[in-house]
Amino acid sequence: MRDDNLPPRTGPQKADDARIVYFDRNAYQIGQGGRYAAWYGCNTCHSLGAVGVLDLDDGSWRYGGAFADIYRSIAERHPAPNQSFGQRIPVQQLWQMTAYVRSLQSFGAERIRRQGLDQAGEPQGAQWTGPLR
Ligand code: HEC
Repeated sequence: MRDDNLPPRTGPQKADDARIVYFDRNAYQIGQGGRYAAWYGCNTCHSLGAVGVLDLDDGSWRYGGAFADIYRSIAERHPAPNQSFGQRIPVQQLWQMTAYVRSLQSFGAERIRRQGLDQAGEPQGAQWTGPLR
């Protein structure tokens, strides 16, 4: 499937932005988003045991749970020291992390924990033994 608007170069423009279907509930995008969320340290504040607004898997959202709302929460509404996520993180990764964050409420704690363990076990950096040497 080809879409000239992909990969996205801007955030969702409206609640029913046509690009959302390529990310929301898409297992690949959710998996990538989980990696980036770990790499950018989101879990230091939004850990599995976090409560209140920091709890991202309870299905309750202070700033709205629609795709465009969550994108905006990450990219534009974060308080210091992370106000600049929208400038520092590439747009496509913000879309992927939005898909990941949105998936958490339907995954359940055990599945989130196991995805985290699987991804933490992936070879990274000097341990990568893929074809590129
Ligand atoms: C330094 C701690 C910290 C880190 C790191 C952090 N957050 Fe947050 N996050 C917060 C706080 C505090 C709020 C609540 C902000 C408010 O109420 O104004 C928040 C709010 C949010 C919300 C909105 C929740 C709601 O109920 O509407 C989302 C989504 C979110 N963060 C995602 C992320 C993602 C994704 C990352 C990593 C890229 C991240 N956060 C990293 C502290 C953090």
